Amino acid sequence: MTLAAAPVFRPLWARDLVPRKCLVGEKVAEDRVHDEVGESTWRRVIFGKSERMWTFEHRDMPRLMAHRPTARFRVVGGGLCYASAVVKLAYPEATVTATDLSLNYLNNHAIRLGVFMGSPVDVYAAADAEDLPFPDESFDAIFSQMLLYRLADPFAALRSIRRVLAPGGIYLGIERASPWCWPWLDRERREMTARNRSRRGETMERPWTRAQWAGLVRPLRPAIRVEWIPGRFPRHAVNVARAAHVALVMERTDGR
Ligand SMILES: C[S@@+](CC[C@H](N)C(=O)[O-])C[C@H]1O[C@@H](n2cnc3c(N)ncnc32)[C@H](O)[C@@H]1O
Repeated sequence: MTLAAAPVFRPLWARDLVPRKCLVGEKVAEDRVHDEVGESTWRRVIFGKSERMWTFEHRDMPRLMAHRPTARFRVVGGGLCYASAVVKLAYPEATVTATDLSLNYLNNHAIRLGVFMGSPVDVYAAADAEDLPFPDESFDAIFSQMLLYRLADPFAALRSIRRVLAPGGIYLGIERASPWCWPWLDRERREMTARNRSRRGETMERPWTRAQWAGLVRPLRPAIRVEWIPGRFPRHAVNVARAAHVALVMERTDGR
C-alpha cells in the first residue's frame, strides 16, 4: 500500500444518520467512549491497527473487491475506517461509504486518516448497525470487523446488512471466536466485564464461541456461513483455550 505524497486538506464532516434521542444504554456509551479526541489518530493507526490494515488489504479486500472494482462498498462499525480508506486507495472507481455509531470517532479520526492516506471516502456517516439507514440493496460489498460481538442484538445487524446487500453482493464480518472450554471462556468473560466496567460499565463486549456464531447465523442459512480464518498455524485446533477468528460470509447469489 502506498500513501499519497501530499496530504489532502480535510474536506468534510461526517453526516449524522443516527436518531440520537432514540439511543439507549450501551449505544449511548459506545458513542461517549469516543467523545474525547483521546489518543492521536497516528498512535491509533501505528500501535493499534497497522497489522489489521495489512491483513485487510491482503486477505479481506481481494475477496470483497477483486471482481467488483466499481462496487458500492461499505464498512459498518468501522471505527477508524481504515478499511474504507484502503479500498478507496486501491479502487478509486468504487463508491465507498464509511460508517460507525460514533459521529465523534468519524470526525476526529476516520476522516483524518482518509485525508492523510490521500483517499478520503465518498461518504462518512454515523449509522447504527442494527438499523441501517440506507435503502434496500444499495451496497455490493460490506465489511465489518470486531463489531457484532459487542452489539446487544447482532442478529438485527445481520438482518439489516442482508437488506442493504445487493444481488451478487458479499458481506464479510470478521469476529473473534472465544475459547470454548469453560475455564478459559470464563476468564475471557471476566476480562471483558472488567474492560466494560473500566469504560463506565456500559459497553457490551461479550465472548462468543464458534458454536454460538454458527447458531446465530442459522436462521439466515444458506445465504450466510461461518468460516475459520486461516492463520499461520491452525489456531482453531487450540480454540479450546485461545481465541481464534471467524469470518461470517454472506453472499447474495439468489433471491434473498
Ligand atoms: C472494537 S471497535 C472495531 C473498529 C473497527 N471495525 C476495527 O476493526 O478496528 C468497534 C466499533 O464498533 C462501533 N459500534 C458499536 N456499536 C455500534 C452500532 N450499534 N452500530 C455501529 N457501530 C457500532 C464502535 O463505535 C467502535 O468503533
